[in-house]
Amino acid sequence: MRLGLAIMLHTAVLKRAGIAAFLAIVVTGCSDNNASFSISEKTRSLIPEAQAGIAESPGVVALLDQKFGTPQTLKAWMKLPVQWGGAAAKVEVFAADGGEAKVKFTAEEGQTFPEKAGFVNVVTGAGAGKTFSVSSWDAATGEAVLTGLDGGSLAAGDICSIDGGSTIQSGRVLYMRHCSHCHGTAGDGNGPTAQYLYPRPRDYRHGVFKFTSTNDMSKVSRDDLLRVLRYGIPGTYMPSFLLMKDDELTAIVEYVRFLSMRGEFERKLVNELASDFSEDAVESRLKDEQRSDIVGELAKFLAEDLPGVVDGIGAELEETWVAADTEDARIIPSVPRVPDSDESRRRGRELYLSKTLNCADCHGIDGAGNGPQTMIYEKNPVTSVPYNEPGLHDVWDNLNQPRNLHTGIFRGGRRPIDLFCRIHAGIKGSRMPSFKNTPHEDIWHIVNYVLSIPFESEPGATGVAAAPAAAPDAAAAPAAGE
Ligand code: HEC
Ligand code: HEC
Repeated sequence: MRLGLAIMLHTAVLKRAGIAAFLAIVVTGCSDNNASFSISEKTRSLIPEAQAGIAESPGVVALLDQKFGTPQTLKAWMKLPVQWGGAAAKVEVFAADGGEAKVKFTAEEGQTFPEKAGFVNVVTGAGAGKTFSVSSWDAATGEAVLTGLDGGSLAAGDICSIDGGSTIQSGRVLYMRHCSHCHGTAGDGNGPTAQYLYPRPRDYRHGVFKFTSTNDMSKVSRDDLLRVLRYGIPGTYMPSFLLMKDDELTAIVEYVRFLSMRGEFERKLVNELASDFSEDAVESRLKDEQRSDIVGELAKFLAEDLPGVVDGIGAELEETWVAADTEDARIIPSVPRVPDSDESRRRGRELYLSKTLNCADCHGIDGAGNGPQTMIYEKNPVTSVPYNEPGLHDVWDNLNQPRNLHTGIFRGGRRPIDLFCRIHAGIKGSRMPSFKNTPHEDIWHIVNYVLSIPFESEPGATGVAAAPAAAPDAAAAPAAGE
């Protein structure tokens, strides 16, 4: 299927040395033209005025549309650290000849010309908003021949976007084809297939991903997302997409980041409004206030405070997502892997059972995933309502019990470094905590132990073996205190 592409400029805001703060990326000719981004339950709990906005001031739904668009008309909020594709460039030399023009572009700071270019979108100048076809393009020199020009629509000094949004565009098309039936159009983990799956497909809107190589407070890196796409998540329905081309996978990763940021934006925005302007809040306020006064207060908030809040959320998204791809975020063991040996496994088991680390509290004395914690009745941390079933839950409210370590299936990968990261950072969004303060050498002992569990002659055999426990410190002896 050939996509008809057009890029339009969202003229409202021009920022950053004249580069558009928004590009609208229009997708046409798709079979999924009816798909729409769902809004969260919490957004729907707001009074209609807070969702839609009042007069000139947009509410949550209108803001989402303004910043992120719809599946058919994505918008690129340039502030967000997403590789939209294409490049912003300035017209250096311009020579028109009828409807055709020879143009030489220079890339704006930090931009690299795309290899191929099909269209140019005028961002500033008299022709702002117009789109021209590119009939020839040289990425090395920035020289192009544009067609379809009418007089005066382009001049030297104008800023254009060349093939703007091409990456996010193809990411979206691939995502709709391969992922949305599980992960949903909006990345809410609620595609048509999702209800039959356990564990459920990830809801990206929290901005939280479980299996990362980044430390416990950091977000997921692009490499982590790529790895999940290449290898899938063993033991779950998340498939491997190893057969896809690298540029396809990177485009999908950018689209997943886009959806994730959209979801986080929505959550954070609604949190600013929910305590005063949800249906429930307004209902209880009506006891001693007039609805018109409450709506007046909302109008003032939307007009005066919300723009600052929106900028703040944008800045936070930019900072945290950028940070995740830096060296500082990465978990790097300070000592090389401790070679696997009976001695190391024994030490690992002692640490596993020790009162300080207490893995056994969740995973059970012998690692079968049946520790005492699996029997407690947890409360939903937001509503404080106890769950119907005993056991641990993740931030998505799904039952999420500690792993049975006998299966030898590790969702985040089974290389020793994968397990090192799991223990160091914990599993984000789940109850598996971070053990980042544990000496790295000890983490390697635990890794050696965990990797040996599926091969034990009988459950718990490690550490009961011949040699006396050689631990110099107070780590508890096997089975102590249980
Ligand atoms: C058949 C259903 C299914 C399909 C199709 C699918 N996924 Fe998943 N995906 C899952 C499930 C289930 C999980 C959660 C596994 C878990 O929680 O351990 C998941 C988890 C993920 C995660 C979270 C990884 C983490 O560390 O938290 C990402 C990212 C992801 N999928 C991306 C994708 C993308 C992108 C596609 C399409 C190219 C895709 N998935 C297709 C079912 C699916
Ligand atoms: C408070 C409960 C809790 C404690 C304590 C705990 N875990 Fe976990 N652990 C979990 C949960 C829950 C999961 C499943 C998370 C998921 O996949 O969403 C898990 C998963 C795991 C996994 C599976 C990783 C994978 O890639 O599939 C390993 C390995 C693991 N834990 C090891 C440990 C070790 C070692 C310790 C102690 C140093 C420990 N856990 C302490 C709750 C706990």
